[in-house]
Amino acid sequence: MRIGILGTGTFATALATGWTRAGHDISIGGRSPERAEVAAKASGARARPLPEVAGDADAVLLSVSWEGIADILEAAGAPTGSLAGRPLIDPTNAVEHGVGVLRTEPGRAVADQVADLAPGAHVVKALHLFPSTRWTAPASSPVTVAMCGDDPRALTIVGSLVRDLGGVPAVIGGLNRARQLEEVAGFVIALAFAGVDPQQAVPAVPTA
Ligand SMILES: NC(=O)c1ccc[n+]([C@@H]2O[C@H](COP(=O)([O-])OP(=O)(O)OC[C@H]3O[C@@H](n4cnc5c(N)ncnc54)[C@H](OP(=O)(O)O)[C@@H]3O)[C@@H](O)[C@H]2O)c1
Repeated sequence: MRIGILGTGTFATALATGWTRAGHDISIGGRSPERAEVAAKASGARARPLPEVAGDADAVLLSVSWEGIADILEAAGAPTGSLAGRPLIDPTNAVEHGVGVLRTEPGRAVADQVADLAPGAHVVKALHLFPSTRWTAPASSPVTVAMCGDDPRALTIVGSLVRDLGGVPAVIGGLNRARQLEEVAGFVIALAFAGVDPQQAVPAVPTA
């Protein structure tokens, strides 16, 4: 697949690396062309100017700090429909560092804001929970990637990209579940910063 990555930081570079290894064609860009070149060199991706990153991509990953979401989507032409009809993966965490409290208004998810800023794009909340290193280092056992979104085809495409990283996709519902997924990240971050292993804070429930 052709994948466009908006953002050039740690997470963008890690996923570009994982997807390049899986044989995908990755374009990467951010507000700094120099940092895009560095990320491209480190991951095997191609650096492109922001307006061209999404170009002909089959899927797009939004990988910036939550404060930069509106700026980068604007630079990529999303408000005027450049991402319409395409899966737009939102892994962002708008979470107060070290505390885990969400910075979004009550009842709203970042993914809802992303959908508003990218009309017509098929937003899928996914990949926000595990650290980037999970997708670049060899793993002893696969992890489950809970995700949600409204478009079945987009969910299938993102699910396949999750598998390519070594994860197992689990769709929990439509984009109206995104706030819940984002709260889970806040919960995990809060426990981790309190010195508690989050896996010890949830019950082992037998599956049906
Ligand atoms: N790292 C992880 O393990 C991980 C795991 C799950 C989810 N995430 C999520 O992934 C996203 C990226 O995280 P990261 O770890 O890659 O962070 P990072 O290394 O700090 O990179 C942040 C990226 O956001 C860009 N950015 C910030 N403000 C911007 C603006 N106003 N306009 C354009 N670009 C802007 C930065 O550009 P500059 O370089 O130009 O400043 C950089 O490309 C975050 O939302 C994070 O919550 C990260």
